[in-house]
Amino acid sequence: MASNSRNHFSSKFGFIMAAAGSAIGLGNIWGFPTQTANNGGAVFLIIYLLMVFLLAFPILVAELTIGRYAQSNPIRSLKKISPKWKISWIAIISIVAVSLILSFYAIIAGWLIGYFISNGVKLLGMNNTANWLTTFSIARNLMLMIIFMLLTMLVVRNGIANGIEKCSTYLMPLLLVLFIIMTIYIFTQSGAKEGLKMYLIPDFSHLSFNLAISAMGQAFFSLSLGVCTMMVYGSYLKKDTNLPTIAAQVAIFDTAIAFIAGLLILPAMFVAQNNGVQIFSESGKLLHSDTLVFKVLPNLFNTMGTSGLVISSIFFLLMIIATLTSSISMLEVPVSCAIEELNQSRSIAVTWISVIIITISSIIIWNFNELFSFFVQLTTVYMQPIIGLFIALISGWLWNRNKVLQELKKGYANIQESFFWKIWPIYIKIICPIFMLLIFFH
Ligand code: TRP
Repeated sequence: MASNSRNHFSSKFGFIMAAAGSAIGLGNIWGFPTQTANNGGAVFLIIYLLMVFLLAFPILVAELTIGRYAQSNPIRSLKKISPKWKISWIAIISIVAVSLILSFYAIIAGWLIGYFISNGVKLLGMNNTANWLTTFSIARNLMLMIIFMLLTMLVVRNGIANGIEKCSTYLMPLLLVLFIIMTIYIFTQSGAKEGLKMYLIPDFSHLSFNLAISAMGQAFFSLSLGVCTMMVYGSYLKKDTNLPTIAAQVAIFDTAIAFIAGLLILPAMFVAQNNGVQIFSESGKLLHSDTLVFKVLPNLFNTMGTSGLVISSIFFLLMIIATLTSSISMLEVPVSCAIEELNQSRSIAVTWISVIIITISSIIIWNFNELFSFFVQLTTVYMQPIIGLFIALISGWLWNRNKVLQELKKGYANIQESFFWKIWPIYIKIICPIFMLLIFFH
């Protein structure tokens, strides 16, 4: 496909919402609160915020800029950045990483669908089915994962501007409003205060390098970094957009949602504990952390009586859409490569790639205890930050500084005089890599 036939996002707001849509998902409502509760609360929050703004944000700008400059899929984009050094293998590793991420992501996203449908089924009086949909089993996990993947395939097959943009533009702000309402409600429940304390009052005895590594992985996961997702989205971006500003808006929006989700989930954990649900072990570790959010939230909705059913339905529906806008951004990475590198049609690329992902996902479901956490760790704690490190090194060392400047200037005419340009090039070249290596090798 020639570069001038690429689809582009039709409005700036649409892009911010699509990129924010990619960023906002299970990472915010499932990953961040669980990690925060597991790592001592407020200290994790503080380190996470530092990681987002000091590490992830500069790399987000780099990924978006590479994509928009090259106007191509990640393989070709990296070739274009540095024809001399063979760096397109990084794109191949990214494709593997993002496919593995989607394989576990689809399982959890499927659970959201299960909770959503179970509400309707309950209204029909089919309590056994409702129970089946919300109870862990191989058959349920398989069915719901496949439904979620089919939805993802449907949107990705229909192309960028149509599919992604429309979905995310209206619904992400609505999700924010719903979170705020639920947060206000949870504060009225007994037990909430304890969760709030844990979330906001730091106890620095929890500080450790392991915590920093977890926070770094979570920041990369939440901003969809280090697997070329944002590079692909950047390539669909028009030349007149101001990349640093857009990246900052996306990072702030995503972090705000994670912060509010924490404000909701941590107190909700303690409220649930008050209501007899076991949350923490004797030693203070979270029990069953992977599935915890799915125990805590239904408990919260149960305390609301009949209105709980309505709120829960809206909540799960919006969350399904939020995870869909994330999963389509993952599937888009291998699909964009297959379309342009293998000369395939979009529907063929979507089909065979999804079949592979569904297969991997099924293997994980069959061996959940052995494989699930392993894949989560492998991809989010190691692969994403390490590929992110390479992206920082590539943009800092291999990409001609003048070309970077010309590209950024297209949407930000006087960037040369800006504070951003005084800091960012050196930052991404030296400080980011050193910082990341320090954390890793400790
Ligand atoms: N950031 C999304 C979330 O928080 C998930 C996501 C979308 C993602 N694209 C990604 C994670 C690419 C890692 C890599 O739920």
